[in-house]
Amino acid sequence: MKILVGISGGIAAYKSPDLVRRLKESEIEVRVVMTKAATAFISPLTLQAVSGNLVSTDLLDPKAEGAMGHIELARWADLILIAPATADLIARLAMGMANDLLSTLCLASAAPIAIAPAMNLQMWANAATQDNIQQLKQRDFTILGPDKGEQACGEKGLGRMLEPLQLAAECKRFDQNHKLTLAGKKILITAGPTREAIDPVRYLSNHSSGKMGFEIAQAAYLAGAEVTLVAGPVSIETQYSIKRIDVTSALQMQQQVLDHIADQDVFIGCAAVADYRVSEIAKHKIKKNNQQLVLTMVENPDIISSVSNLENRPYCVGFAAETIDLIAHARKKLITKNLDMICANDVSDSEIGFNSDDNKLTIITTDDQVNELEKASKSNIAFQLVQLISSHLK
Ligand code: C5P
Repeated sequence: MKILVGISGGIAAYKSPDLVRRLKESEIEVRVVMTKAATAFISPLTLQAVSGNLVSTDLLDPKAEGAMGHIELARWADLILIAPATADLIARLAMGMANDLLSTLCLASAAPIAIAPAMNLQMWANAATQDNIQQLKQRDFTILGPDKGEQACGEKGLGRMLEPLQLAAECKRFDQNHKLTLAGKKILITAGPTREAIDPVRYLSNHSSGKMGFEIAQAAYLAGAEVTLVAGPVSIETQYSIKRIDVTSALQMQQQVLDHIADQDVFIGCAAVADYRVSEIAKHKIKKNNQQLVLTMVENPDIISSVSNLENRPYCVGFAAETIDLIAHARKKLITKNLDMICANDVSDSEIGFNSDDNKLTIITTDDQVNELEKASKSNIAFQLVQLISSHLK
């Protein structure tokens, strides 16, 4: 895939070389066009070095026109990504102006155009900018962001450019467009452990790191799905535009799952939900008294069963983390939990499963198809699992 990266003159331009580098890492061919103002923030030479191609800045440069003219550049691109897109450039695009190389290319190209706005929050909120954005949306421009947060001007709010990693992911998603196996599908995933409080300072939990569930969420997103991730307490960041809901206990996890389950096409229960919680959480820290401490536990609800037994149920995928009789236990869970697919995971092997970076799964479906996913990184396993799930959806 070939991407023309347009850079306009905002402080976020200092992130553009990182964006180009990340696109190149994904084997995307990149050419860069900068506005004159952009060159005040960052040198064309930097972009030339990271993209591996000459950088164009001028519409009326005979030398550049001799190498690859603006019409050729416009035809070359499979996608034009403008990052950062300033308020000024957005206004010029909305007007259909062609008063520099970048705006001319946007008019001359039949390729889809995505823009990543970056500006002061008042400039973004201004009705003029918002009107321009609406016009561009009507013309099928893709608007990526902006994000909320700390701004270069010291204010906090909406207007930051999306991070290069997120922008690169959006491009990869676009790249897979014709093979987006989960395009238009909504997927809800649980991940990580749950934590069951004993008193205000103590809890019961397990060793789940959440890695597998997070990888599945990312793989599903890259396959085109709209992803909601209900995560127990884990220390992983979510990448991409995944809707993340953080919870602590099993009861909170169940509540969030049931609140978001309507309209979902697929539910993947990857969380290691605690089977029990203490029947009554002590109001104050429990003190030592040199005697045995007896906790009364009650069973937690089975979240995946509460989904699979809904009248309008999504396609349900569960996990069976076992130390013995892996396949027999997994088959039993497939039936008792009323699932469509179960992923059997041998957690007695420390090289795979809990907390490790690799995994190996035996996947069984209700029609008794068995698929072995050989040991690989969790991200590779997630990719294969997502492809398999998509092949089972109508
Ligand atoms: O019964 P077990 O915990 O081994 O089942 C594992 C599968 O069931 C996983 O998909 C897990 O996310 C789900 N589960 C659940 N709610 C529970 C226990 C397990 O959704 N309370």
